[in-house]
Amino acid sequence: MSDKIHREKVVLAYSGGLDTSVAIKWLQDKYDLDVIAIGVNVGQSHNKDDIVARALRNGAFKSDFVDRRKEFVEEYIWPALKANAMYQDAYPLSTAIARPLIVKTLVEFAQANGAKYIAHGCTAKGNDQVRFDVGVISLDPSLKIIGPMREWVMTREEEIEYAKQNGIEILVKKENPFSVDENLWGRSCECGVLENAWLEPPEEAWGWTTNPKDATNEAEYLTIDFEKGIPIAINDKRLGSIEIVETLNKIACKHGVGRIDHVEDRLIGIKSRETYECPAATVLLKAHKALEFMTLQKDVLEYKRSIEQKFSEILYNGLWFGVLRESLQSFIDKTQEFVTGSVRVKLFKGNVMVVGRKSLYSLYDEGLATYAKGDGFDHKSAVGFIYCWGLPNKTVATVHKK
Ligand code: ARG
Repeated sequence: MSDKIHREKVVLAYSGGLDTSVAIKWLQDKYDLDVIAIGVNVGQSHNKDDIVARALRNGAFKSDFVDRRKEFVEEYIWPALKANAMYQDAYPLSTAIARPLIVKTLVEFAQANGAKYIAHGCTAKGNDQVRFDVGVISLDPSLKIIGPMREWVMTREEEIEYAKQNGIEILVKKENPFSVDENLWGRSCECGVLENAWLEPPEEAWGWTTNPKDATNEAEYLTIDFEKGIPIAINDKRLGSIEIVETLNKIACKHGVGRIDHVEDRLIGIKSRETYECPAATVLLKAHKALEFMTLQKDVLEYKRSIEQKFSEILYNGLWFGVLRESLQSFIDKTQEFVTGSVRVKLFKGNVMVVGRKSLYSLYDEGLATYAKGDGFDHKSAVGFIYCWGLPNKTVATVHKK
């Protein structure tokens, strides 16, 4: 116990899994550090007491599992939703969006405990290592980063052996062939048979959603109310931010909504095949976009799409804590001033469809759109407009013919 007083400290991003459990011991042995094992609750289904007790039994100097779900939804998920954030038109960035908050929490613990090091269990082949490392140095450049999984050369079997030899208690359940990450915005799954991009993901790869073929035969309709781009109520019931996401996850899972099978480009140059389950995200992104189509004018919509793509790349590539992201977010926030209204969606057997939308700020004018009585459009103006619009083409055609 006495040697603990002068030992340097490291804050470890602790998930409770095999890698980070082994890392507690390994950081002590290899670096002679006291380990503060911190889990961040962003909606994984862990029990706080279990996680903390296990970390302490495995030799952690201190441990905590901090509930950051509210901040996660309000400061990270909502901005991503307002940005319609989607990487490569397929992935709602569910893992990526939690990383900056996890990093922020670790840095806070390091600063509060006088730790000079931060450690994480990311491998050398993924995006998450970039998000952790760049996040940490962006918030506190004095901190040093240790990535045990990038340094040690242990296979999974060797890790289990190391754990046994060192009395590390691990939960090696039935061989889970996949690498999974979960939070309120979605579930990511990779490795195992998924590495063969031609094979259909086996049912075991899906952990949240009902197989659409087994989903209920009854379609379900939901009304989602938005205020300035943020969802605030479901079926006229006002809900807290966490509740909105949890409720939609539950309902959409039941209908098999939100399964994604994708080959994506990692930042480090590798393509990888992953599956995602993003039930609430799929519903909300669709509904939010539908409301934007009704309340934003065409030039804003079009320009915003390019900003959204940049925002998504920044988020994917680990540059959340940066001036460009903050600036783009300000632009996006300004566009959301009148994205207030209601969207009706229909969930049915793996599918979510927008079937209605209304807003006090609707730019859709039935009087202008109608082909029936009460048409308010000035038909005479069309001819003059088309004369001007087509004039450059007419001029070119005339000249080139000569
Ligand atoms: N490819 C995704 C990303 O980089 C998800 C990574 C998830 N990690 C995992 N262990 N399955 O954001």
